[in-house]
Amino acid sequence: MNFLIAPVVVAVIAGVLAAAISIVDKIVNNYGPVNISINGGEKIVTLNGGDSLLSSLASQEIFIPSACGGRGSCGACKCQVTSDVGVHLPTELPYLSKEEIEKNIRLTCQVKVKADIDIIIPEDLFNVKKFKSRVKSIRDVTHDIKEVIFDLQGEEINFQAGRYVQLVVPPYDKIKGTTQRAYSMSSKPGDKGVIEVLIRLVPGGIATTWVHTRLKEGMEVELIGPFGDFERSETDAAMVCIAGGSGMAPFKSILYDMFEKGDLDREVWYFFGARTTKDILYMKEMMELDAKWENFHFIPALSEPEEGSNWSGETGMITDVLDNYLKTKIDSGKAREGYLCGSPGMIGACNNVLTANDIPLDKIYYDNFA
Ligand SMILES: Cc1cc2nc3c(=O)[nH]c(=O)nc-3n(C[C@H](O)[C@H](O)[C@H](O)COP(=O)(O)OP(=O)(O)OC[C@H]3O[C@@H](n4cnc5c(N)ncnc54)[C@H](O)[C@@H]3O)c2cc1C
Ligand code: FES
Repeated sequence: MNFLIAPVVVAVIAGVLAAAISIVDKIVNNYGPVNISINGGEKIVTLNGGDSLLSSLASQEIFIPSACGGRGSCGACKCQVTSDVGVHLPTELPYLSKEEIEKNIRLTCQVKVKADIDIIIPEDLFNVKKFKSRVKSIRDVTHDIKEVIFDLQGEEINFQAGRYVQLVVPPYDKIKGTTQRAYSMSSKPGDKGVIEVLIRLVPGGIATTWVHTRLKEGMEVELIGPFGDFERSETDAAMVCIAGGSGMAPFKSILYDMFEKGDLDREVWYFFGARTTKDILYMKEMMELDAKWENFHFIPALSEPEEGSNWSGETGMITDVLDNYLKTKIDSGKAREGYLCGSPGMIGACNNVLTANDIPLDKIYYDNFA
């Protein structure tokens, strides 16, 4: 039994120590008022020091992307610090390239604001807002993916199709404080008064367990956004899009946006990989879009179709189906671009197929859900 008890004891002691250090730090280290100067003094905010740069900025309604809720495990919360805040912490280094370290790019959730600090952030972030939304509808679109539509209660969101929002998860039995997770918007930019997301249950996951077991219609939920840079390019190159599971979200937004705007001359090939018929979402909607938009081709592929399901679409691994289409159906004489959305494994595998078929790396765009 000792081998089971020892790690638990170590974890409890570490937790107690961390809490004690944080309390002592707050009491002993009174940093007083400090200034955060943004973009060469374009905006200066004054607040009490002691919090992370991420939280300090958020307290002033300046929202830096934070897909993991400040746990130092997503690497999304980067910004350049142009004043001295000490050397990089070991927790920052795995997320930073050599060039980023040289430019003093930092993870804002790991940098503590103890004195005046100068930072540079993209101008876009000044447009990010916190929305007090209400759940308008929530429904299963597969056995493990829920479609949730949030009403923005009179407010509007302006975004490019492909962007994501951060969902603020309130405290519940899995977490003491709030936390945040990133979810791509599946609604189109034209529907400004609502935000739709597709959330796949990650067994044991903090945010997805809350969404799948606690979230109900009518509940108030905070959303922060828009964030990200995934979007369709402004070229007429054929788009080769690949997704699986909740990776459907940004493509649903992009496709309906193109259809609504009459951007129909551009060729779009949309490969959607799933295991069985139970794992496909919006099949009817995508087939309808395919039927009324001549240059749009929806190619769902099942790796393990159930016996008796009468599946008449493609079968096999999505990478093999993609490879076959790139070699035999998608004109290689025309410019082509790759768009990938999903897990790092799926992105890596499809990336290899695209590059092996002469789509250059700089013409492949990703929305990595990790
Ligand atoms: C830019 C961006 C956009 C995203 N868009 C979407 C979206 O549209 N729909 C969606 O469902 N998710 C999306 N995600 C993933 C989402 O932000 C969460 O990471 C995911 O929902 C898990 O959160 P959780 O709190 O339930 O799990 P956590 O409590 O954070 O994690 C629990 C455990 O599961 C592991 N884990 C985390 N994520 C996954 C995963 N996806 N698959 C398997 N294991 C995992 C973790 O390593 C951890 O061990 C996106 C992520 C990013 C960065
Ligand atoms: S918020 Fe995820 S690493 Fe900082």
